[in-house]
Amino acid sequence: MKKTILEEWTDMVEQKENNITNYYIHAEQKASDYFQLLFTQVKEKRYAIELASDLKKYLRHKRSENRPFNFDQSSSKQYRQYIQHLTKRGKLDNYLERSISYIYMRDLGRDITTASIQQRIHSVTDSLRDYLSNPSQTEWFSLSSLYRLAQNESLEPTFFWLMEKLRHVSSVIPEELDHVHAKRKLIKIIAGVLIHEIEELNQDVSQEERAKRLDKAVRIGYCYGLTYPFIDDLLDASFLSDHEKEQYADLIRSTLLSGRVIPFTNWKGKNRETIKRIYQELATAFDYLKTNQERENLEKFYQHAYLFFHSQEIDRNKELTNTHYTNEELYVPIILKSSSSRRIVRSFQIFTTDDQIEERMFYYGIYNQLADDLADLDQDLADGSVTPYTYYLTHHQKRDDLINPFALYWTVITYLIHDVFHSDRNTCFIILDRAINGLKRLKQRLGYQRYQELMKLFQVDDKAFEQLLQKAVRKSKNVAFFDKLLRDQMVNTLENEQLQKQYFRDILKKVKTEINPLFKMEEKNNEQHLNHPLIDAANYSLQGDGKRIRPILTWVMAIDGYKLDKKNIIPLLKAIEYMHTASLIFDDLPSQDNAQIRRGRKTVHEVYSSAVAELAGLFMTQRAVEEQTTLTQYDAETVLELIAYSTKITQEMCKGQIIDLESKGKRLTLAELNQLCFYKTGIGFEASIMMPAILAKRDEEERTILRKFAYHAGIAFQVKDDLLDIEGDTAILGKQAGIDKQNNSATFVAILGIEGAKKEMWNHYCEAFESLQKLSVDTAFFEQFLHYIINRKR
Ligand code: IPE
Ligand code: IPE
Ligand code: MG
Ligand code: MG
Ligand code: MG
Repeated sequence: MKKTILEEWTDMVEQKENNITNYYIHAEQKASDYFQLLFTQVKEKRYAIELASDLKKYLRHKRSENRPFNFDQSSSKQYRQYIQHLTKRGKLDNYLERSISYIYMRDLGRDITTASIQQRIHSVTDSLRDYLSNPSQTEWFSLSSLYRLAQNESLEPTFFWLMEKLRHVSSVIPEELDHVHAKRKLIKIIAGVLIHEIEELNQDVSQEERAKRLDKAVRIGYCYGLTYPFIDDLLDASFLSDHEKEQYADLIRSTLLSGRVIPFTNWKGKNRETIKRIYQELATAFDYLKTNQERENLEKFYQHAYLFFHSQEIDRNKELTNTHYTNEELYVPIILKSSSSRRIVRSFQIFTTDDQIEERMFYYGIYNQLADDLADLDQDLADGSVTPYTYYLTHHQKRDDLINPFALYWTVITYLIHDVFHSDRNTCFIILDRAINGLKRLKQRLGYQRYQELMKLFQVDDKAFEQLLQKAVRKSKNVAFFDKLLRDQMVNTLENEQLQKQYFRDILKKVKTEINPLFKMEEKNNEQHLNHPLIDAANYSLQGDGKRIRPILTWVMAIDGYKLDKKNIIPLLKAIEYMHTASLIFDDLPSQDNAQIRRGRKTVHEVYSSAVAELAGLFMTQRAVEEQTTLTQYDAETVLELIAYSTKITQEMCKGQIIDLESKGKRLTLAELNQLCFYKTGIGFEASIMMPAILAKRDEEERTILRKFAYHAGIAFQVKDDLLDIEGDTAILGKQAGIDKQNNSATFVAILGIEGAKKEMWNHYCEAFESLQKLSVDTAFFEQFLHYIINRKR
């Protein structure tokens, strides 16, 4: 009988599940063999013989290194200083080469003794050294550095995509998860996939092809990296109930086994909405990986992905109180998960055929996992998670059959050095550097006492080896690695970023609340009818829902930056907001942009009349001057300078508006666009930071930096305004979206398209960011201000 489509489909899925589970059984067997081999070697105490001899050679070699270097890398705030120190002592190359070699060995599964890999290591070391030694290189993880890198590779669209994605991830990660580490892991995986791709790229590949492949690598990295926060961390987190975790794990498992995303429907539990959003993003990522997978690799991808997930699950579901786990049960999942995670990354591309790479990755995994688990021991104990270390500590007194994980760790190292890397001296020393560095870091983090305690608990059964090991930890210098520096630095940057975002939001809110009441004009004339309806119209406009960005900048610059007295600068704040609000009233007039909505309400000319609007605008610019004449705490010359400056600003804004109106329908050049936007918008931002600088009598050098910053920040603000006109939402903007098109205005978007406009916006962002680095005042607020410009929704 002929099968129905549904039956055929069911058969197919079953077939696929069979393939995957068969593969699992096969992989498990292989892992078990590896484990048995290690187990035998632990019993034979191979480390005590072979590794002890390596350690002796290693120590001799370390002693012979001239001028050992003992500057501490882990105080990572000084990472730049650290690199400088290395440079000064002539140790930078050595440090970078060791680090790059290690990455080739661990992450790329390469045999670093071959001539071709040696050559690669040297050339990567050279370019990295040049990059780090470049004095204009700002923060490594600043958005501006990253954008510059993307620009170099013509990867701007990829950068925009990734920024959107990271923002989305931030918005869906539940509070209970660690945002900093979630992002760190995600970024690390993206970097990992990129490194793999770059390794496979030929010199002779065209720029275009290169960009295409790197773009794909970033997207794949993101999609795969997502599984760390969204599967691993989530299933570890305590805010989900056990039943919720089960449901979630079932969804993931079924998706991996069937190769198609299982719909999110019958969820039971209070975190439905949170999980739904996370699952949606994960599903999109899964589909991307599936459809962008090379045909040859798809099967492999499913196999490794399932292997990774399932072995993690087995580990996760273990209980520390269970007294019966066998050694095999403890170690086999570790071998499986640590090797499959690396091989997933490799399954994304068709790679040069070197079977040994996969083999080396397989053997290497457990070494890393055991190193990480040792570092996380105290945390794992607190969480009650089962790792070889926590389990051994909890049960070894009653279970003398349990392997000491520390002995196994050194056995793996011995095996890697001698059997996988054929006793190569250089490889041996790098692996030992890494392992010794791990212990040094642990010692430093835990403090001497706790470290000693742990070393006693995990003491291996050989005194001489123990002594050699601890001697190496005490004596070895020059064992730091660049990837660790990057890691520390990344955590630092991400943590800082979080704090500064909060700080920026707080200031914005606080200052806005404080200054809002200032923007109500009082009637100065006793004869009330003479004021009406001018003041009403002005107040109507002022009291709309403006963002107050300009006076807030003025406030921060004047009070926090230049320590001017709060009560003395009130007229300045008023002047700034009056000048700006007046410009909006004019801009909205039927004779200009003809807008009906502003600051969430009808425009002034709609409510009153064009005549009243024009006069109210004029009235406010004059009031702005009058306010400045009341700055009597400052000397007359300074105030005159201020007035001369601010009135010139208003004149220039008028010019900007004229250029704008006359440019309708024209294809301006980039230079003309920049000029237009500087005059109509940039100049207002300049005023808000230059006016405090004038009052504070700052020198010309500083003013030049401020002007440059304002120029770029102001244009970036306007480009974003142009982008919001087509991507934004009238209700949120408080002004009409789509009006530029209606007016046929010459905006960045009209002339360069959305992507072109974004490129210019980021370019100005970077320029502004770079100029900030030269400023004498604390720039944290202004850096966040730049982020705000780019990310704002209104
Ligand atoms: C609008 O400025 C005019 C432009 C320069 C694009 P804002 O976007 O700062 O407007 P308000 O003050 O918040 O209303
Ligand atoms: C305005 O540019 C510049 C001003 C200083 C008024 P836009 O015309 O793009 O400003 P919006 O979009 O109306 O706020
Ligand atoms: Mg306009
Ligand atoms: Mg307008
Ligand atoms: Mg606009």
